[in-house]
Amino acid sequence: MMINILIVGSGGREHAMAWKIKQSPKLNQLFIAPGNAGTSLLGTNIPVKVSDFEGLRNAVLENQIDLVLVGPEVPLCEGLHDYFSSDEQLKNIRFIGPYKLGAQLEGSKDFAKEFMMRHQIPTAKYLAVTSENLSEGLSFLKTMNSPYVLKADGLAAGKGVLIISDLQKAQDSLREMLDGQFGSASSKVVIEEFLSGIECSVFAITDGKDYRVLPVAKDYKRIGEGDTGLNTGGMGSISPVPFADEVFMQKVEERIIKPTVEGLKKDQIPYNGFIFFGLISCGGEPMVIEYNVRMGDPETETVMLRIKSDFVDLLIGAADGTLAETSIEIDERTAAAVMLVSGGYPGDYIKGKVISGLDSIGSSMVFHAGTAQKGEAVCTDGGRVLAISSYGENMHEALNLSYENARFINYEGMYFRKDLGFDL
Ligand code: AMP
Ligand code: GLY
Repeated sequence: MMINILIVGSGGREHAMAWKIKQSPKLNQLFIAPGNAGTSLLGTNIPVKVSDFEGLRNAVLENQIDLVLVGPEVPLCEGLHDYFSSDEQLKNIRFIGPYKLGAQLEGSKDFAKEFMMRHQIPTAKYLAVTSENLSEGLSFLKTMNSPYVLKADGLAAGKGVLIISDLQKAQDSLREMLDGQFGSASSKVVIEEFLSGIECSVFAITDGKDYRVLPVAKDYKRIGEGDTGLNTGGMGSISPVPFADEVFMQKVEERIIKPTVEGLKKDQIPYNGFIFFGLISCGGEPMVIEYNVRMGDPETETVMLRIKSDFVDLLIGAADGTLAETSIEIDERTAAAVMLVSGGYPGDYIKGKVISGLDSIGSSMVFHAGTAQKGEAVCTDGGRVLAISSYGENMHEALNLSYENARFINYEGMYFRKDLGFDL
């Protein structure tokens, strides 16, 4: 049976998923809403925004979609899955992404911390603070060691985490956050113990009962080389991650993935979709920094390269509750993605620069992150523009191939990090 699939989103993650899905013999037609210049080469872009539920509803019905795959977290936290299941015409359509309830694992840091406590999943010590228990929060900070970690409870587009070395400043920041520094997202703040170690991203797909572990990856969040400067959406990724060896991944599965999926069951939280475990290895012991309820970006731009099995089988399994019948085969090779960004990003930057050289690249995949077709030209349309993804026998080979191919691409202000993998 062949199916029509709609991917919701417009970034490199969605382009990479589209690339992988396109290879499936089970695919009939592929649609992306809203997509970008890259996804339009693989399927039909539909000009509907990710939070336009009614627009998505119409697109699904008009195009006889059998499976909806949601890329970003925002529509999930806003209840897109709930909207589908409460609609007579949509409720039987396969849907990848949790309901609003499960999406709180990402949408509320406090919800995620309580979940981890309840199910004994290793994570940093914490206290949730609102204006009601501010004084408790201020004293809790005094009992902690520097640096102090303050997290806005709600979604803050990746900007809601502050790490502060001075106690007085941390206490001031706590007040400012509660006073609305991140809008309603910081009307509650989670104060956390600082964990030191090296981070990696582990992904699982689940139907709420069983799960399959996808390839592990590492992303590079800072704009500057040597992990300096401002945080970005991600400047590149590498999969697999040398320190996340078999012994480490065994611990991750036993201590984190299994208890999470079992916890969802025990708490009666239905869940069909991806779980992204943002982990830190503290001397070889994995701890959870955060949950996300979707795939990572730019991790997906390497993870998709390393899934050998039919990705559509996994999606159908997760949607139908038949994941136990599926298997996943992983490519042994390394994959690396180098993100090309706009000059000025993550600060102000100018969109609409003409991109040249896209046709010169054959030995890497070029996933579009922020591009738009303007007549004949493909133009920049975001801070993160293109992910150049390559295979290699090891990390160096994969990165070198991406760097070689990045040289063919040109647009005014193009920037990328040349030191990916420096810490591995
Ligand atoms: P999050 O938005 O939760 O992923 O946090 C953003 C970044 O802050 C993470 O990727 C970590 O680098 C850092 N971070 C968050 N929580 C902690 C913690 N408890 N200890 C050390 N670093 C942290
Ligand atoms: N690469 C981290 C994220 O997608 O949140």
